[in-house]
Amino acid sequence: MVAGARDEPARVPRRALPGGAVTFVFTDIEGSTRLVKALRDRYAQVLAGHRRLVRAAIAAHDGHEVDTQGDTFFAAFASARQAVLCALAVQRSLAGADWPGGAQVRVRIGVHTGQATPAGGGYTGLAVHRAARICAAAAGGQVLVSQPTRDLIEDEEEGPGLGFALIDGGEHRLKDLDRPVRLFQLAAAGLEPTPPRAGQLAAGGSAAGGVHGFPAVLTSFIGRAGPGREVAGLLERGRLVRVTGPGGSGKTRLAAEVARRVAGRFADGAWLVELAPVADPGQVAAVVAAALGVRDQPGVPIAGTLARVLARQQLLLVLDNCEHVLGAAAELCAGLLAACDDLRVLATSREPLAVDGEARYRLAPLALPDLEDLAHAATAEAVALFADRARAADAGFVLDGQTGPAVAALVARLDGMPLAIELAAARVEVLGVAGLLDRLEDRFALLAGGNRAPPPRHRSLAATVDWSYQLLAEGERTCMKGSRSPFGRATCRTWPATAC
Ligand SMILES: Nc1ncnc2c1ncn2[C@@H]1O[C@H](COP(=O)(O)OP(=O)(O)OP(=O)(O)O)[C@@H](O)[C@H]1O
Ligand SMILES: [Mg+2]
Repeated sequence: MVAGARDEPARVPRRALPGGAVTFVFTDIEGSTRLVKALRDRYAQVLAGHRRLVRAAIAAHDGHEVDTQGDTFFAAFASARQAVLCALAVQRSLAGADWPGGAQVRVRIGVHTGQATPAGGGYTGLAVHRAARICAAAAGGQVLVSQPTRDLIEDEEEGPGLGFALIDGGEHRLKDLDRPVRLFQLAAAGLEPTPPRAGQLAAGGSAAGGVHGFPAVLTSFIGRAGPGREVAGLLERGRLVRVTGPGGSGKTRLAAEVARRVAGRFADGAWLVELAPVADPGQVAAVVAAALGVRDQPGVPIAGTLARVLARQQLLLVLDNCEHVLGAAAELCAGLLAACDDLRVLATSREPLAVDGEARYRLAPLALPDLEDLAHAATAEAVALFADRARAADAGFVLDGQTGPAVAALVARLDGMPLAIELAAARVEVLGVAGLLDRLEDRFALLAGGNRAPPPRHRSLAATVDWSYQLLAEGERTCMKGSRSPFGRATCRTWPATAC
């Protein structure tokens, strides 16, 4: 058992703090609020034991304790190597300690070297700030080391073998720092091979909130105020929300908009993973892990590594287009949600995942104009979308008394489906609105032109239907062959565009 509060030794007496190239070490207990809640009175004992171990390591490596606040240590070292060895000793001794109440005390550590001059019994300046930020980016049990520290250690040629390795994790942006920082993860015997926090080691990734993996927004988002509110509400109340609806009805776009809006509520942000290009269900977990910057650990199934990383995060995972890898996506969701308390999943899928607690939001088509009273037609979502995209395709397009009625009729014929409306609008320059309306008899051929650059399954309505068709079982395909209306008002009850 670690020492109790009363056994806590006094601080090591102060020696003169080093100047010049100083290596700073910050340590911080991960999830200390959770520990306080779980241990109550015994937390003081844990804190004192932790302080004793950290102080012993600092002293043994010729370090200087600059400041200690709560569960955070700030130490300075004249030698970069000693600083890293101290961090290693801290992790090893914490891992070997027997904590009261079976508590798990995991400490994140950041190490950084910079030019510094001691003043007033401490240090100020950018190097200290950087070291603190690097510590904040680390996971519990992990030591992250900056490039200047790593370079100094490599330059120190004399002395015994290092006994540790520094694994290059690439560059990333840390909060409040203007330039990206190259970080190295400490690896050594006795040190748990802690998987990095999601995205932490992904190039350019940020460990602090925000949205990740979302496509750049090139077109305006129209309407959907009600659905946006409802999906956000479902995400607040439940941990798995599925947006469903026919192909091209706007599931992905809505999910991305909602995720962008609520990302700030998640300390580790919102991450979007596109599953549409994943052909092999066996690759779903690996694709999600790769998108989150979680690296494979030898001998551990990737889903397990992912669960361990996400268990320490507060994150929104957006799984886009699950329908063709339904079983694998469902299994991954169920496993992750069971293992990770602060994880929420927003999925888009035409089919149910059938995971416990799954809340469904069925997305209706865009609001249509009232064809009997066109006074307010321009504000109907479907008309607004057509007008926006038509203006992009043809700078001369105007929605007025002449084009308005035809646009209203056109979007009604397209059942208010955003994909169909966009495809039609893309051809307005060539055909004009009246021409588009005339040619609607052959909807598939009409909507196959234009110069949009969407994913392959959205290049035309025929391609969208083909994607849906591929998702059907054999019997359902036979049924489809007898259907005359594969888009919109389906005549086949099992048509997946209406299944949910
Ligand atoms: N409310 C909206 N405002 C603007 N554009 C929209 C809106 N809803 C959908 N779109 C556009 O319509 C097209 C189809 O939408 P989306 O890709 O979200 O459909 P989907 O339901 O996810 O389709 P699939 O089932 O094939 O994945 C996209 O180009 C999208 O940007
Ligand atoms: Mg989609």
